Amino acid sequence: MTERPIGVFDSGVGGLTVVREVLRQLPNESVLYVGDTARVPYGPRGSDTITRFALQLAQFLLQQEVKALVIACNTVSATAAQAVRELAGDIPVLDVVHPTVRAAVEATRSGVLGVIGTVSTVRSGIYERLAREMRPEIRMLGEPCPLFVPIAEENLLDHPVARLMAEEYLRPFVGTPVDTLILGCTHYPLLKGVVGQVMGPGVTLVDSAQPTVAELSRLLEERGLARRGPAEHRFFVTDASYKFMQIANAILERDVSSSLQQVELGGD
Ligand code: DGL
Repeated sequence: MTERPIGVFDSGVGGLTVVREVLRQLPNESVLYVGDTARVPYGPRGSDTITRFALQLAQFLLQQEVKALVIACNTVSATAAQAVRELAGDIPVLDVVHPTVRAAVEATRSGVLGVIGTVSTVRSGIYERLAREMRPEIRMLGEPCPLFVPIAEENLLDHPVARLMAEEYLRPFVGTPVDTLILGCTHYPLLKGVVGQVMGPGVTLVDSAQPTVAELSRLLEERGLARRGPAEHRFFVTDASYKFMQIANAILERDVSSSLQQVELGGD
């Protein structure tokens, strides 16, 4: 069991920000990644559709015999984590929302958090609910930033459109006591530079990768699942892989071309 890979999934390239952290914190672990590039974005969709897609991705990874699943997508974590856990049975499933909320609650001094994410994630209210369970006096302001996902998928991170949209989306936070901003979508760390510039140095940006992988590391140790051997990573996409490959190479600082494959998932 320890030799098996960790399954990681997202709607597209965003989950690679979590994979990058797995490579950093857990260099001996192998990763199987699947990005649903044929159907990205998930954020504007309804919960039934998100759940159906998420179960297909999880099922694909479970068929490859992974030892743990990481839902490297805040939208799926907010909507379908329970359904994925039921499907996975004994295989442990980590979502990205819980560890990220904990990190943000620890980081804030003003007690006022901001969260940006997809429409579906922000509407779910899950960040505020969990933060208040941890510290009832926490206040939270949320703003959806739907165009950040296509900007990341199109690799337009250095294009003026990224700056323009960041200014537009983040304006509601200006002049508020928000001192910690949750990047509540795994695509958003790719826009961290521009988000940081707009929010200014007084605001701490918290993303899902570091706290989620720290939790994964603890879980693998606790269950005796941690691997010592050399790692081997494989990447799957549901649509033509060229753009994904370019972005993956840049994020992971390695050439993934020989380990990248297009697959068809069950369902539509
Ligand atoms: N990266 C995903 C998230 O964390 C999904 C973005 C999308 O597909 O809309 O929410």
